[in-house]
Amino acid sequence: MSACLLASLLLIAAPALSKAPVAKAAPAETAKSAAAHPPGTVIASAHALSSQAGLEIVRQGGNAFDAAIAVSSTLSVVEPVSSGIGGGGFFLLHDAKTNRDIFVDARETAPAAATPAAFLDEKGELNRDRSVNGPWSAGIPGLPAALVHLAQKYGKLPLKTSLAPAIRIAREGFPVYARLEKSYGSRREVMERYRGTREVYLADGDPPKVGEIFKQPDLARTLELLGEKGFDGFYRGEVAQKLLASVKEEGGQWKPEELSGYTVREREPLRLKYRGWDIVTAPPPSSGGVAFAEILQILEGWDLSKLDPAHRTHIIAEAMRRAYRDRTIYLGDPDFVKIPLARLTSADYAAGLRATIHPDKATPSDLLSGQPAPLEDDETTHFSIIDHDGNRVSATQTVNLLYGSGLVAPGTGVLLNNEMDDFALRPGTPNAFGVMGFAANAPEAGKRMLSSMTPSFMESKDKVIAVGAPGGSRIITQVLLAVLAYDAGLAPQQVAGQPRIHHQWLPDVISAEAGALDADTVAKLQAMGHKVNAAESPWGNLQTVMWNKQDNTLSGGTDPRNPVGQAVVLPSRP
Ligand code: DON
Repeated sequence: MSACLLASLLLIAAPALSKAPVAKAAPAETAKSAAAHPPGTVIASAHALSSQAGLEIVRQGGNAFDAAIAVSSTLSVVEPVSSGIGGGGFFLLHDAKTNRDIFVDARETAPAAATPAAFLDEKGELNRDRSVNGPWSAGIPGLPAALVHLAQKYGKLPLKTSLAPAIRIAREGFPVYARLEKSYGSRREVMERYRGTREVYLADGDPPKVGEIFKQPDLARTLELLGEKGFDGFYRGEVAQKLLASVKEEGGQWKPEELSGYTVREREPLRLKYRGWDIVTAPPPSSGGVAFAEILQILEGWDLSKLDPAHRTHIIAEAMRRAYRDRTIYLGDPDFVKIPLARLTSADYAAGLRATIHPDKATPSDLLSGQPAPLEDDETTHFSIIDHDGNRVSATQTVNLLYGSGLVAPGTGVLLNNEMDDFALRPGTPNAFGVMGFAANAPEAGKRMLSSMTPSFMESKDKVIAVGAPGGSRIITQVLLAVLAYDAGLAPQQVAGQPRIHHQWLPDVISAEAGALDADTVAKLQAMGHKVNAAESPWGNLQTVMWNKQDNTLSGGTDPRNPVGQAVVLPSRP
């Protein structure tokens, strides 16, 4: 790729961030035509221990799906700030044997007691403490059910084998790193409200400190029970009783049948085409795929590489603005609401939206919410895997905000999520990510809250890619910028490091990482009528892997904004 195209794609003069070298397998031999399957396995995740856990399982004969169980469960242990078995996630799979793509939806569900009225204070305003802290903020966890489902339907190894690295690390401990310590500081007051949380995080009398070894013996035992008993090991029996008792002790209301009745859903992924790429991505209850379909089809009206940085940013931001408006109005759990999916994802609809974009003028969003988008982005986590048979996993999992609800059920090690805040608990009131919603995303018993998590695959005649990221409402735009960067020819590590911009309709502002837009571009955007926050702190934690079928190499990219992430390659079949 030409230097000029690279610079213009990045929207800046020079990349602000760089990190670890690209992990790359040596080509077995120079292939003249596309290879039938990859030479080995590549994994990128937000912690070195979880990437290594995945490789450990592949070395024992596991496939990408067994490795996904190992990576996911290890992330639950070493990155409790971001995700865990008290939360949920989405797993996008490609099964090479059947050539099928499957979307495993392990999103949390609303308990029946969590009606909209339960989240209002005496003045009828949203009770923000209840929506993000403690038992009311927690949905019924989905992640343990996903691990069981993956092992039963797609893995080659017993669940307990794939959970073994996580169990070991929970029991023996791992060194605390800066993000865990810092995030604990920011959630300390909430974490220390709850007996079960204090037992884990203040076990030695003090909060976790960098370099200390953090052990979670109760979590090890819970994972062991999951490995031995499968679904019942978490959702029925000893662990379930402790979860129910803890929620009750802290003033919440869960019913036993809400745990025992939890089911993952297999959904048809959304498929779209963009300039020679086949993209497979997340359907509702994620808003990501629908937003992608709108944004990418709008953008097909321009050759982005020919636009100057200001106009490129303007057009991308206008496309983002329109997609996020539709997210607000139409999207929710497809099992509960009728979503005009065919219309929202159609080329005609995108063409209509495209026609409303003025080439040189910002379209003001209908109203300004005045709610600044939050900058926290250390929550949620993504990992990507491609194995030697060509199986793929792109998975994003979460407990929502930092350390979820802050509530660990005593004796389980399970930190519950605060995903209820992703519902439109009060119509038109923005949530923690500054996005709002209406009836389509109102809470109802058993309903899944709308998500932005967008685990995705991209495939061209030469390349197979898995990609995703955390970042709340900024997930969709991070993955979108990754699609554009791959389309422009960047390698995985460059894709993970590229500077980011974002627009989400409301607030009506282009957010940009410091250095992503130069002063001239900012001035031109302002002249078009855009409000630009040009110096925001970096956000996101993108993890991506690629198989280049032409030279039969594997490479990974891990976000340089997160110093403990790792992309690893096993160069050949074990
Ligand atoms: O599902 C969602 O869209 C959110 N619960 C994800 C939260 C997240 O990415 C937090 N990270 N910054």
